[in-house]
Amino acid sequence: MRETVDVDEAARQHVLSVLEADDGIQRADPDWPEFVRRLDVHFPDLCGLFRSLYGSRADWQDQLGALVLQCARSWQERPAGLKALDAEREGDSSWFQSNRMLGGVCYVDRYAASLDGVRDRIPYFKELGLTYLHLMPLFLAPEPFSDGGYAVSSYREVNPKLGTMEQLRALSSELRENGISLVVDFIFNHTSNEHHWARRAAEGDPEYSDYFWIYPDRTMPDAFEQTVREIFPDDHPGSFVPLPDGRWVWATFHTYQWDLNYANPAVFRAMAGEMLFLANQGVDILRMDAVAFIWKQLGTPCENLPEAHFLLRAFNSVCRLAAPSLLFKSEAIVHPDEVALYIDPAECQLSYNPLQMALIWESLATRNVSLLSQALERRHNIADGTSWVNYVRSHDDIGWTFADEDAAELGINGFEHRRFLNAFYVNRHPGSFAQGVPFQDNPRTGDCRISGTTASLCGLEDDPDQAVGRILLAHSVAFSTGGVPLLYLGDEVGQLNDYQYAMEDGHESDSRWVHRPHYPAEQYARRNDPATPEGAIFAGLRRMISVRAEAPELAGTRLIDFHTNAPGVLGYQRPGYGRTVLVLANFSDGPQQLPAVTFSGFSAAAVELLTDTAHSLADGITLAPHEYVWLRVTPK
Ligand code: GLC
Repeated sequence: MRETVDVDEAARQHVLSVLEADDGIQRADPDWPEFVRRLDVHFPDLCGLFRSLYGSRADWQDQLGALVLQCARSWQERPAGLKALDAEREGDSSWFQSNRMLGGVCYVDRYAASLDGVRDRIPYFKELGLTYLHLMPLFLAPEPFSDGGYAVSSYREVNPKLGTMEQLRALSSELRENGISLVVDFIFNHTSNEHHWARRAAEGDPEYSDYFWIYPDRTMPDAFEQTVREIFPDDHPGSFVPLPDGRWVWATFHTYQWDLNYANPAVFRAMAGEMLFLANQGVDILRMDAVAFIWKQLGTPCENLPEAHFLLRAFNSVCRLAAPSLLFKSEAIVHPDEVALYIDPAECQLSYNPLQMALIWESLATRNVSLLSQALERRHNIADGTSWVNYVRSHDDIGWTFADEDAAELGINGFEHRRFLNAFYVNRHPGSFAQGVPFQDNPRTGDCRISGTTASLCGLEDDPDQAVGRILLAHSVAFSTGGVPLLYLGDEVGQLNDYQYAMEDGHESDSRWVHRPHYPAEQYARRNDPATPEGAIFAGLRRMISVRAEAPELAGTRLIDFHTNAPGVLGYQRPGYGRTVLVLANFSDGPQQLPAVTFSGFSAAAVELLTDTAHSLADGITLAPHEYVWLRVTPK
């Protein structure tokens, strides 16, 4: 202990001397003391993390010095408006936990043609109530295969088809003026094979070869592949792909996405530089892509390793120094125990909630809420200062990421149940209402995931009435359990699967494009016509959004379970001061009657918020099929 204190003090002195010696730093800058103050507060964390990751290298203190210098320079370049935002958010650190938060996500080109097109849609975003806009990857990427932009060729250049960095900056300020935070991806597990680091590596440059996991022959790849799972088996088996010169490079996802080697501190520094560059363009939240994969260690699955957490924390410390208002959202689509480990104010303040997402679909298929209730009861509450991002579906496939142990407790066999769910959602199960498409069907492992828009998975093509009920029911969970609800834009008007993807260059072999349709203009035009499914979905969602924004109980994430004693009816409580919102949601196909005794813990007088009607719990509650109610009740 004493030794590490001494070591860290020596590192601090070294870092201070590096800053002292640098001519580029403007010490007369009125904001400089603020950096010095931040360094005092956050250096111990950053230093400890950096030492854990790189302390075995002789040059680790030099690397740390160079990193802090980079932070100092970036802070000095940070625009005044963003520094003002930093100060504002520091005074209101729970801003993202408000019940007024509402997220939307879209592809710039498919939804609005360009960044300027996104700007033109701001009035609509305000109509909807958005406060958070996630623009899917918009940086320079290879053509035509780029995994929807998840293969980045430059973090500092916007894809010219979408616009320019200047336009992104302008968009971010205009969004902010309209109360909308900008979210973009930080795709930091890999670059594209066209990134200049990758090109230099492919040419054999040793400095850049060290930026990636490159081996001269199959010895190490074979050894790693003993314990690493395949992510996109349709694309290539295993985790490595050959280079023209006979070497092998690590590519977890597609052949053209090369994993960065964070065992090399130069990579950490380089990516911290790219991150701070994005922060200074006005990005509010970074979606930390593929967090589970960022550290590799022979003999392990190379997912969710402790060092992956150290790295995220170190990136977070870098933000605290140089872009303090920036937040991280974790994208960990892994076992729920592992998902939870990324959620921490010092790591990722926000996280996708893939378990809730998957179990909403599971409940719709089974008409039984036992797995979803269990998940809410034991896995929903997270640390203060953090929040879920709850969603019904994303741009990605649906994977059944529930824990087999949890399912077993309920007498459910995880493997069999996933098989049933896959068959159900690709309409291979008798009685299925869903029009999904398989994704990465892996006959060797029996693994498969599901593609499809919300409306198509709910069967809007075949039975609009039932489907509208399911669509609203699914969203009612994401909008009321606690956290930021995130809409896939277009789903609020019931957009359907788009099978044209099979004709699109670069998309044909990736069924996820079926649920990434173009802006559904005609459906949007019908959004205010209550006689149409579009109008019914839009009105239902708008109502949830406005009621949520006025219900302080729905802020934050805290949830208390509530047992309805009806297998098809989900229940939970969102506690407020003296009052509680009790949510009930009927996932069964028939009406459900809950007797008065179910509510004996509450006073009889209740108000249903969505319809603004009074109820007496002394009469019990009857729910129509797919009905959901948000009851404001008073615990006795
Ligand atoms: C994330 C993205 C996914 C992409 C992958 C590789 O999981 O959500 O779309 O394929 O990362 O970057």
